[in-house]
Amino acid sequence: MTATLIDGVKIARRLLDDLKPRIAALNARGIKPGLAAIVVGDNAASEIYVRNKMRACADVGMHSAVHRLPAGCSEADLTGLIESLNRDPAVHGVLLQLPLPAPLDAERVMRHIAGEKDVDGFSWKNLGALVAGEPQLAPCTPLGIMMMMDHEGLALEGATAVVVGRSVSVGKPAALMLIARGATVTVCTSKTRDLAKHTRDADIVVVAVGKPGVVTGDMLKPGATVFDVGINRLPDGRITGDVDFESASAVASRITPVPGGVGRMTVAALIANTVKAAEKTAG
Ligand code: GUN
Repeated sequence: MTATLIDGVKIARRLLDDLKPRIAALNARGIKPGLAAIVVGDNAASEIYVRNKMRACADVGMHSAVHRLPAGCSEADLTGLIESLNRDPAVHGVLLQLPLPAPLDAERVMRHIAGEKDVDGFSWKNLGALVAGEPQLAPCTPLGIMMMMDHEGLALEGATAVVVGRSVSVGKPAALMLIARGATVTVCTSKTRDLAKHTRDADIVVVAVGKPGVVTGDMLKPGATVFDVGINRLPDGRITGDVDFESASAVASRITPVPGGVGRMTVAALIANTVKAAEKTAG
């Protein structure tokens, strides 16, 4: 291996430490930033994600609560809960953990979360702000990746970046954030004819497709920096990313591990968004 690891655990801890004085300043004004998570049904992965988010809140001294609804709840039950959290002054961030069990329509339900409390950054208001180049609450995973890039001192202006994946939660906002910083960005998808042709040209590669081994070392430009967003469980129970770590780390100059990479930053960015939302409310 030649690549240096980009340590998400360390960078996330630094980011959370940096938030503490801002939280203390809010506390001094009688405001305790609060995050409300909604979990519907019982999805094992969601339980782990939400537990990590609640733990991070506790670590920085924020208030948090998990609201649970059964898998068979109606859309009105769920939107009613969201509306009540929208009105609750002790709640600064509302997070609807995805995926929702069928037949609930996540896209439709999420539109009920007030834009100023949408700390996931998935609402049309926040996505639109990103497109307009005036980000407010930006989606956490790409926000966390950008924080990692800045921590690493990556030169983005004029850099060539390839984003593999076009999701609303990661691929599309990551591309917009990179464009805003002056990178030349190509977005590839499962339909892209020759993925390697694009990735081989890139100084920065962000991979977010949810499929192990989509990018291998031979598809990278020597010295590239690689951000692996994937969290995939292998048949033997191990967790792996979307990038073939062994071959990629022999070619890249820097790479995020899985676990211990981008995932940690997603949680840290969520906390940062909640603090930002509380500050905005406080005026
Ligand atoms: N499920 C998997 N990742 C996420 C995330 O970042 N936010 C929400 N709300 N649900 C998720």
